[in-house]
Amino acid sequence: MALEIGVIGLGRMGTEIAANLVSAERQVIAYSRRPERVGELAALGIRPTMKLENLAHCDTVISVLPDDNAVREVFCGPHGFASKLRRGAIHIAMSTIGTATATSLANEHTRREQGYVAAPVFGNPAAAKARQLFIVAGGTSTDIRRCQPLFDSLGQRTFVVGSDPAHANLIKLLGNMMTATALEAIAETVAVLLKRGLDPRLFIDILINTMFGGLAHRKNARRMET
Ligand SMILES: NC(=O)c1ccc[n+]([C@@H]2O[C@H](COP(=O)([O-])OP(=O)(O)OC[C@H]3O[C@@H](n4cnc5c(N)ncnc54)[C@H](OP(=O)(O)O)[C@@H]3O)[C@@H](O)[C@H]2O)c1
Repeated sequence: MALEIGVIGLGRMGTEIAANLVSAERQVIAYSRRPERVGELAALGIRPTMKLENLAHCDTVISVLPDDNAVREVFCGPHGFASKLRRGAIHIAMSTIGTATATSLANEHTRREQGYVAAPVFGNPAAAKARQLFIVAGGTSTDIRRCQPLFDSLGQRTFVVGSDPAHANLIKLLGNMMTATALEAIAETVAVLLKRGLDPRLFIDILINTMFGGLAHRKNARRMET
């Protein structure tokens, strides 16, 4: 039991992450609010529970909750899950959340003598399933070292950005902004080509094989072809 890793937030990303931990021969206990998911999670080798306090014994808890509100609701406040976790336990927060939330969480855990590592990811559920995530990690070097074997089971590369967890979240948010900007730029260009009666597929082929061969451009451009 002491070696179980807790996972909170068993959605599209969290389920793949928890399943990969099981594949890496970790014992995983996962909190789900929905009874209908219990059978599915158990079939993946995950020990499901509908009681959050059943994760309180874990040395490591990974959250893959949807947003700032959910993370704050679950972890913060006098009765939040941080108050149930043991001293010395570590919380790895993989959600895309704001820097203020990351700083509040880091303070909450530090106050309770617990570790906190922000580890937002670049990728999607398919990449998570294939262990191809890019993990951007922020936290103390001791905490990051402790988490690294788990990151190695979940992603293709971990970028360590320093001791301030919020910096990892800032980079993830800026990355999302750049993806959105790339999408917008491609859409504007395709709109001009269409207005002139031209086939944008030729442009897309030129684009991704010359100056704009990065993932964000390639994926979004290909999507626009269909
Ligand atoms: N999906 C992607 O492509 C992608 C890519 C990179 C990063 N991310 C980030 O990864 C995080 C998770 O994304 P996702 O796509 O996996 O989201 P999701 O599919 O919506 O899953 C979120 C999970 O969190 C659970 N949850 C929500 N509020 C909760 C609460 N208060 N207490 C306990 N459980 C709660 C939900 O449970 P219920 O089912 O009971 O509602 C659901 O299982 C987000 O921060 C997202 O930005 C996602």
